[in-house]
Amino acid sequence: MSRRRPRDPQGRPFSRRAPEVTLSESTFEPQRGQGDTLGESHVAYANGGQSSVGNVPSGHVTILFATETGASEEVANALGKAIDQNGLTSRVMDMADADISELGETEIALFVASTTGDGDAPYAAESFFAALGAAEAGSLGHLRYAVLALGDSTYEHFCAAGRRLDTSLAALGAKRILDRIDCDIDYEEPAAEWRAAILQAILQKPVALQDALGPSGPAAARREKYRLIEGVVVDSRVLTGPGSSKATRHLALELPELADAAYEPGDALGVIVENDPALVDAVLEAGGLDAKAIVTLKGESLPLDEALRLYLDIAAVTPRFLEAWGATSHNDMLAGVALAPDAGERTALMRNHHIVDIMRRYPAAPLDAQIFVEMLRPLQPRLYSIASSLKASPRQVHLTIAPVSYSLWGEQRRGVATGQLCERTPIGSRLQVYVHSNAHFRLPAAGVPIIMIGAGTGVAPYLGFLQERAAQGDGGRAWLFFGERNRATDFLYEEELNAFLRSGVLTRLDTAFSRDETNKVYVQHRLLEQTGELCRWIAEGAHIFVCGDAANMAPDVHRALLSVIQTGMGLTGSAAETFLGTLQSEGRYQRDVY
Ligand SMILES: Cc1cc2nc3c(=O)[nH]c(=O)nc-3n(C[C@H](O)[C@H](O)[C@H](O)COP(=O)(O)OP(=O)(O)OC[C@H]3O[C@@H](n4cnc5c(N)ncnc54)[C@H](O)[C@@H]3O)c2cc1C
Ligand SMILES: Cc1cc2nc3c(=O)[nH]c(=O)nc-3n(C[C@H](O)[C@H](O)[C@H](O)COP(=O)(O)O)c2cc1C
Repeated sequence: MSRRRPRDPQGRPFSRRAPEVTLSESTFEPQRGQGDTLGESHVAYANGGQSSVGNVPSGHVTILFATETGASEEVANALGKAIDQNGLTSRVMDMADADISELGETEIALFVASTTGDGDAPYAAESFFAALGAAEAGSLGHLRYAVLALGDSTYEHFCAAGRRLDTSLAALGAKRILDRIDCDIDYEEPAAEWRAAILQAILQKPVALQDALGPSGPAAARREKYRLIEGVVVDSRVLTGPGSSKATRHLALELPELADAAYEPGDALGVIVENDPALVDAVLEAGGLDAKAIVTLKGESLPLDEALRLYLDIAAVTPRFLEAWGATSHNDMLAGVALAPDAGERTALMRNHHIVDIMRRYPAAPLDAQIFVEMLRPLQPRLYSIASSLKASPRQVHLTIAPVSYSLWGEQRRGVATGQLCERTPIGSRLQVYVHSNAHFRLPAAGVPIIMIGAGTGVAPYLGFLQERAAQGDGGRAWLFFGERNRATDFLYEEELNAFLRSGVLTRLDTAFSRDETNKVYVQHRLLEQTGELCRWIAEGAHIFVCGDAANMAPDVHRALLSVIQTGMGLTGSAAETFLGTLQSEGRYQRDVY
């Protein structure tokens, strides 16, 4: 165990040395590395099943979460509740609001962290991750910890942020209580098992969780997890003009049960989606499966075709599916790729095939319906930024939806949700939805200037911001940078935005239509052109928002902002990074990208 005083990245000692736990270091060595874990839903004890921590002298456990869309926060809160119910006290903190000096104050820290972007830490937690990465080796020798990583196994860098966190903590001398668990999007069960194992390790006795038994049936499980309300589609229209390469759609829902303060601008709407019945038929045919065979999901029996249409993801290929289908079809290549350490090869195979393609290309003898459903992940709701304000449209939610459509294996493929919402949801349709709060994307106080940057559907939350400010009579300045392909066909919400300009709610509107010019111009180029003026707005306290594409736009805009700050404020590159990092930790640089 390290005897050195813990230090923060600036070399300052943490405020207090935590009490030392008198257990030998080897007690905490993990049984095996977790580097290649693929979302296993079991909990491995670090010390072969014995309790790891003798006692917790202070009776206090710190729980830190890093989240982009709220799941890690929910898991962290459930863990905190379970710890409190078992006679200890917990403090649950968002890494976005925490300083790593908190770790100098605690004996046991439990981390729940998701991954976003392309293997990145959740944006609001970046400073915490960076500070850990820069802290002095051995400075957390007093700390016992465990990490639960949330991710999606279809991504190449599965649970990468949780893995990095685990590695950083170990490098700083902290000792694992349990091996890290990497969870796929169906994280509920492994997270509950991890919770029980953590408590057992801390309390040194078997623990029965009060909420261990979930509701019966997939529909009840959804109702338990999300506060579902019913919405009726009252408007559905294509925003783009004839000849556009896109058919971006405006959808308005009337939600009679929506309370007056049910959402704030910046929040998203979660939509419960259904698979296309034609895809269900194709999967049944490819597997030689009986549509009416009875299967069991979460303790409830239902016909296979209903299970496939409503509750299971039958499009995205996962490592779990590849492995299972490889075994079923006796195809060693599939099973090999599923388990290979080279995530690149696996990701390429998963990207180029849907489940039905794997079933068709690598046929298996007709299989048992229950075995098949157990190869699949639950169908997830989809999130859409809310493009309205309750003050302007009471009991309504507006969405801006870009259809996903592409050709694969000679067939036109549609996104699960966008296929449904854009093609099979006429006015009058009913949808199950829930409000998804987004505390990291919020309008500042009245009068504070805002700089909004978005491309395509990234404009959606800004309509909510502007409607809210108009309804409140807020005279704060607002500057929008909007990008799309062609002005003539793709200027989403042109009329509404021009009306906001005329009324003064929107102070400036700078557009970038990439396909109207020989040299493609994107929002990041417009930012660079406005270096001086942007720096004046920032100096006057402006908050910066970025919404839309995570893969290209957000990193390009981030680089452009660094350049604006560096040039406009005469800073070095690293000083510009520190400046933008400070804006981010102060909540003045907020990103909602997907
Ligand atoms: C916080 C948040 C806010 C969001 N807000 C919005 C919003 O306001 N508007 C909006 O439109 N979306 C928004 N999204 C995205 C939205 O949730 C869905 O992910 C999106 O609509 C696609 O869903 P889908 O079910 O139609 O597609 P899916 O069925 O999930 O298909 C998408 C997948 O198709 C595959 N794919 C796509 N193109 C190709 C190709 N050319 N070749 C091979 N495979 C391909 C990729 O694997 C991709 O992941 C948001 C997401 C988040 C997390
Ligand atoms: C835009 C976006 C990017 C993502 N990138 C990754 C990734 O690179 N690796 C991964 O394992 N999961 C990735 N995920 C999946 C999330 O980590 C997963 O859904 C997780 O449960 C979200 O937890 P949170 O709500 O706490 O953020 C991504 C999700 C989104 C929406």
